[in-house]
Amino acid sequence: MPPLSLLGSRVAKRNREPAFMSSTPEVADPYGLITRQFQVDPYPTYEKLRNDAPAYFSEAWGGWLLTRYQDVQSGFKDPRLSSNRAGAFGAMLPAALKERLAPVVQSLGLWALLIDPPAHTRIRSLVNKAFTPRLVEYLRPRIQEQVDLLFDKAEAAGKLDMVHDVANLLPVAVIGDMLGIPREDGQKLRVWADAFATFFGTTKYTPEVLEQMRTGIVEMEEYFRGAVAQRRKSSTQGSDLLSTMLAAEDEGRFLSEQEVLATCSLVLFAGHETTTHLLSNGLYLLLKNPEQRELMLGSEEQLTAAVEELLRYESPIQRLSRVIAEDYELHGQQLRKGQKAFLMIGAANRDPRQFPKAEQLDLKRQDNRHIAFGFGVHYCLGAALGRLEGQIALRAVLRRFPRMKLLQEPERLENVAFRGYKAMPVALG
Ligand code: HEM
Repeated sequence: MPPLSLLGSRVAKRNREPAFMSSTPEVADPYGLITRQFQVDPYPTYEKLRNDAPAYFSEAWGGWLLTRYQDVQSGFKDPRLSSNRAGAFGAMLPAALKERLAPVVQSLGLWALLIDPPAHTRIRSLVNKAFTPRLVEYLRPRIQEQVDLLFDKAEAAGKLDMVHDVANLLPVAVIGDMLGIPREDGQKLRVWADAFATFFGTTKYTPEVLEQMRTGIVEMEEYFRGAVAQRRKSSTQGSDLLSTMLAAEDEGRFLSEQEVLATCSLVLFAGHETTTHLLSNGLYLLLKNPEQRELMLGSEEQLTAAVEELLRYESPIQRLSRVIAEDYELHGQQLRKGQKAFLMIGAANRDPRQFPKAEQLDLKRQDNRHIAFGFGVHYCLGAALGRLEGQIALRAVLRRFPRMKLLQEPERLENVAFRGYKAMPVALG
């Protein structure tokens, strides 16, 4: 049973290894997609692929890579590229595990991210009603407060690791506030978020990974079932996402309780690690390009444009997988039903066919139609929130610590789907 590979593998080296098997046959990898060098700096390879093989079947990854902006953007809208990976996961489970993992299969089957229209359309339109600009405004002062708290702690300690002390903590705290759970329960969210990240990042479903995922889903649903019951008892409607999801109505239809619970875990998974990497990639780029730093501190428009460029230049999600639902031809290649395709966001966002001087970071860039948040029906529901967290946190760090410096060159994650760092110790100056 191949791992769900929603985004890709945490450790790319053994990416094709079927789960539950212990050895991997050697595979051809002419573009070096399973090398450490690719994890560290994939951009030269992206350029070669865009120029020489824009639709490329990688034996090493077990799927097609689409690297040109135009193809990736169209791929997001193409019904022949299905997002339905949840069903495949359930169907491929060995009989002995089916019952034990039923709660996971049931929850993932309701994640908007993993299903296609028309099932997707219904859930998405209802969840969308809860993801309002009002929700983002409700969160703005809470994000600022969390950011101040984290930097106060760093200042008091006289040291900061951007990954461990800020980027790993802020998004999950904001999701807690968004869902309306008490701050003292934040640690629970972090444990569940880690279980989800491990499950989706793995190359091999070990019993531990599956059991941890099951525990995460079961515990989280139990916790939120209690929170739902409390909301239902209360006579006033809160501004948090849980309350707004329960109230969301579309032509007389509502989300079922199970759909609300599944969306809570989806939001935790989708909103945590992505934003984490925006913060650490963003700070790294700002420290490496001091001449552009002032733009973060200028007007709101400049700040907004700067964060968009950081998202384009080092996209937190580099690739997303899809299942090919019918045969078709692209750039003279035959893509076959049942094969996997990777929409290479990281390559598309550096395509010079779309972005002038694509390899240059330009925080003033105009007409920046990057696809770091995807495109089409699955376009990120939390884009406004992710952006806001990036704007508030990055502006705050530069304002508070204008002489901040990297203590050493930070190490990249061993991951080809999420682009981020393992740690980022800095001197506060
Ligand atoms: C910088 C931060 C973020 C990035 C780069 C990002 C990126 C993405 C991308 C590329 C997709 C499309 C997935 C696909 O097409 O298969 C997506 C979907 C999604 N994102 Fe985000 N995201 C971020 C932050 C957030 C936040 C903060 C939340 C919520 C709190 C969130 C919730 C979601 C949800 C629910 C979906 C699924 C939408 C659907 O399938 O209809 N994201 N995100």
